[in-house]
Amino acid sequence: MSTEAKILETYPVATIATIGRHAGETVTIRGWLYNKRESGKLLFPIFRDGSGLIQGVVAKNAVAAEVFDAVKTLTDESSVIVTGKVRADQRAPGGYELDVQNVEVVQRVAEDDPFPITRKEHGVDFLMEHRHLWMRTPRQAAILRVRSEIEKAMHDFFDDRGFIRTDPPILTPAACEGTSTLFPVDYFDEQAFLTQSGQLYIEATAMALGKVYSFGPTFRAEKSKTRRHLTEFWMVEPEVAYLGLDGLMELAEQFISHIVAGVLERRRADLQVIGRDIAKLEAVKPPFPRITYDEAVKMLQEGHSKGALETKFEWGGDFGSPDETYISSQFDRPVMVHRYPAQVKAFYMEPDPKRPELALCCDVLAPEGYGEIIGGSQRMSSYDLLVQRIREHDLPIEAFKWYLDLRKYGSVPHSGFGMGIERAVAWICGLEHVRETIPFPRMLYRLYP
Ligand code: 4AD
Ligand code: MG
Repeated sequence: MSTEAKILETYPVATIATIGRHAGETVTIRGWLYNKRESGKLLFPIFRDGSGLIQGVVAKNAVAAEVFDAVKTLTDESSVIVTGKVRADQRAPGGYELDVQNVEVVQRVAEDDPFPITRKEHGVDFLMEHRHLWMRTPRQAAILRVRSEIEKAMHDFFDDRGFIRTDPPILTPAACEGTSTLFPVDYFDEQAFLTQSGQLYIEATAMALGKVYSFGPTFRAEKSKTRRHLTEFWMVEPEVAYLGLDGLMELAEQFISHIVAGVLERRRADLQVIGRDIAKLEAVKPPFPRITYDEAVKMLQEGHSKGALETKFEWGGDFGSPDETYISSQFDRPVMVHRYPAQVKAFYMEPDPKRPELALCCDVLAPEGYGEIIGGSQRMSSYDLLVQRIREHDLPIEAFKWYLDLRKYGSVPHSGFGMGIERAVAWICGLEHVRETIPFPRMLYRLYP
């Protein structure tokens, strides 16, 4: 077989993640050299193929002289096709090693221009500037596998419960979450904006299909430089007709529990590579504590008198990051805070009939100080009140004509929430910053690569 044909061969293919199925057999791995060490007549190259890492053993007397020399001088991240026999080894990190018979170098990284990411410490700016290469390193690759698992678990969750996925537009004529964080786009002769949330549109698809969800990129032009904010992030949003706030909280609680369980079941090894404290995730089971905004405020004020919080929180304000961090660190699992003052929330939320100054809404705060991962609410069902709110929020009423139609033609109570995938990944992986949760993060000062 020509080298070309071998490179592109699709079957049979062993991947490192599933190499255990081939114990005792000779397999071919197509990947890259991660790194290597040497001990006399033995070379120990570590190969990666995107699914994991495996150590090879190259014995001088077991391979052709050219192969031994090629591996001995091989540069990190050179691409290789490796043939060898799989041997179970309890001391090996993945449980297996490869007794190498042959190594074909597909492309050799030049000695005078080596792979920039080395095993020494690099600064964050350097890593971000080399994000396209940084993501090859084991911890970063593990995070991206966990992200993919979270997305799969989320699709399965909704699919199993009869939700229909509907995709809202990204180019929109108006704000959903408030005008201060819109990215403007020239749209021929009109002004358009990148969407902040698919919500308003999936309220329409929910009236057509009952239970729907969307998953797509959303944009916020926030000038905030925090470890929780991206300017472009992926939001998953369910929206359900005939659902109230209590049902919504139940849905959120089941949703998060399902995702965490899926990651624990299928991505445990990756969590270990990342260094996640797995016991903390195992505690994430329903029921989640539910507290009102009023109770949360009390908690913050107590925190202030204990000296844990600098400023005294006053009723009526929105929680900042330190407040959320403090509240969430009081619990070992996500906490649901409901019924915030309507004045700090979006225009579309249904008021609490018992106390109309409150909105029937809920934020889910992740434990270990991660703060808000979900925001959701029951939606306003009255046409007249919605018109009033749109006016109060200084939003252009013409752009919302279609949205108001939903309250004219068979309006029903309905609810939904949005979860930013990156915040969920950061929490589940135990990361300090959301910049590592997405292949190419977009932030206030980061548009490259
Ligand atoms: O709380 P938010 O703004 O709610 C909405 O957009 C609703 N329309 C969603 C709905 O009810 N369908 O955003 C929802 C979630 C947050 O809880 C957070 O996880 C994430 O989106 N999020 C961000 N993630 C990263 N960077 C940002 N700048 C984010 N802003 C919000
Ligand atoms: Mg929110």
